[in-house]
Amino acid sequence: MKAIVYYNYGSPDVLQLKEVEKPTPEDDEVLIKVLAASANAPDWRAHRADPFFTRLSNGLLKPKNKMLGVDLAGRVEAVGRNVIQYQPGDEIFGDVFEYGLGAFAEYKCMPEEGALAIKPTNLTFEEAASVPSAAVTALQGLRDQGQIQPGQKVLIIGASGGIGTFAVQIAKSFGTEVTGVCSARNLDMVRSIGADQVIDYTQEDFTKSGQHYDLILDIAAKGSVSDYKRALGPKGIYVLTGFTMAAMFGVLFLGPRISRTGSKKFVYYGAKPNNKDLVFMKELLEAGKVVPVIDRCYPLSEVPEAIRYYEKGHAQGKVVITVEHNTED
Ligand SMILES: NC(=O)c1ccc[n+]([C@@H]2O[C@H](COP(=O)([O-])OP(=O)(O)OC[C@H]3O[C@@H](n4cnc5c(N)ncnc54)[C@H](OP(=O)(O)O)[C@@H]3O)[C@@H](O)[C@H]2O)c1
Repeated sequence: MKAIVYYNYGSPDVLQLKEVEKPTPEDDEVLIKVLAASANAPDWRAHRADPFFTRLSNGLLKPKNKMLGVDLAGRVEAVGRNVIQYQPGDEIFGDVFEYGLGAFAEYKCMPEEGALAIKPTNLTFEEAASVPSAAVTALQGLRDQGQIQPGQKVLIIGASGGIGTFAVQIAKSFGTEVTGVCSARNLDMVRSIGADQVIDYTQEDFTKSGQHYDLILDIAAKGSVSDYKRALGPKGIYVLTGFTMAAMFGVLFLGPRISRTGSKKFVYYGAKPNNKDLVFMKELLEAGKVVPVIDRCYPLSEVPEAIRYYEKGHAQGKVVITVEHNTED
């Protein structure tokens, strides 16, 4: 089968389209014919070995795992003998982060108990492939970490990107008042997906506006804990989703000190892909409460271009990969 692989760490130039062995499912696995995938931060972090310590698990000098791609949508091609929930032909979507990545390929195996679900009926494969990692990360940040409640004032920093466009819509579905932060060219789009207010971060510093929020979901990770403290209301929760070493250390070291001396809370989390949250998202998507925003689609052979574009950090929604198959497959 065709797959994107990398044999050395580096820029997207190291990514190559190669013929590799087609996987066969174990007893508890489904073999998925991948029809679409999407770009996520773990992709460029893996091939760039960024942060450096990722080399401790994936090989100091060269990557042990050479596959990339977290999100996929496609059709079940075959199932292992113990699989009970899926059968060949089922249209599914899922997140293979915990199974060695590998969504940028024609086929992928994963356990049926993994972050896998039947595809929302109203979505194309491309739309479905844009959902799993970004939407579940947004959902867990808002609901599990942020304890979102109806009527709250919620601020989404990085509202126009992959996670942000889902976060705005998910926060609205919980009955909150949402303010989205992004640059000028994305203000209209963020308004169009439901944000009540929008702030252009190039023109306005929301930490100095005097506005207070019950929940801040920070996907951009560009500011400091002390600035965000000012923008939180009493008992407000700041949830760091985006990753930079500086932002993470700020939350992990200063956050607990601020929390001890007051009622505001600072948290950082790693999303945990799972089947229950995918089903939760499927229901929101089928109800039309959340609609994927897709910026661009690239064919599998152009994954390096797709990642180059995505890693600049200014995509409008998700960057999607279409996986075409030879007709005799
Ligand atoms: N915690 C977790 O479990 C988890 C899981 C997955 C990903 N992540 C992290 O989430 C982050 C972003 O993911 P993504 O896929 O959503 O990225 P993305 O699609 O590139 O979106 C980035 C967003 O940030 C905005 N932005 C850039 N600079 C900003 C600033 N100074 N102030 C406010 N907004 C700004 C961009 O808006 P404009 O284009 O308008 O500038 C864009 O909306 C990455 O750091 C990734 O590592 C974390």
